[in-house]
Amino acid sequence: MQVRRATKEDLHAVGKLALGLVQLHESFDPDRFMHLPNADKGYERFLAREIENPEACVLVLTQPEADGAQEKIAGYTYSTMEPRDYNALLDACAKLHDIFVTDDLRGKGGGELLLQRTLEELEKMGAPRVVLLASVKNDVAQRLFTRAGFRPTMMEMTRTSQK
Ligand SMILES: CC(C)(COP(=O)(O)OP(=O)(O)OC[C@H]1O[C@@H](n2cnc3c(N)ncnc32)[C@H](O)[C@@H]1OP(=O)(O)O)[C@@H](O)C(=O)NCCC(=O)NCCS
Repeated sequence: MQVRRATKEDLHAVGKLALGLVQLHESFDPDRFMHLPNADKGYERFLAREIENPEACVLVLTQPEADGAQEKIAGYTYSTMEPRDYNALLDACAKLHDIFVTDDLRGKGGGELLLQRTLEELEKMGAPRVVLLASVKNDVAQRLFTRAGFRPTMMEMTRTSQK
């Protein structure tokens, strides 16, 4: 498996992975996480802009197809450089918004490779720290992030209106 910057040609496949990420979160807590029925198409359009944004980083994890002719998009990350945010008491940082690896390739080190390459890229872009949010129900992702050196810092809480 290899990691590289995403190109426009990758984005149809990446949009489908992003839909998987959206659906996973909706399954964790449908009141907190939005229902986005056409998230794949929306992401494809959004990321087409973000791959041109010097403050954003979209990487893909690729795997050669069995016949060796083509490569398959097996995962992606999406991150951005962010300025100081006084409301969050958070100084300039990079935010890792999305990481996703296809079901059939999980548990083979692809997620770790993708995360490491993303952190290297963000460091090159000048990020003094990287901040991410992980669902409290997402043990697998939390273990991956902990192995890469992330520590828990904030706990988001949500209360649904009682009306
Ligand atoms: C989180 C996610 C990206 C991890 O991707 P992955 O490719 O499975 O990650 P890795 O293979 O590097 O690590 C996963 C597990 O496989 C293990 N593993 C890695 N290589 C292995 C190998 N060669 N043999 C056996 N186990 C291996 C890791 O130790 C890890 O074990 P753990 O979960 O018990 O701690 C993936 O599960 C995913 O896309 N999930 C859905 C999206 C998601 O949750 N994103 C995070 C949102 S915050």
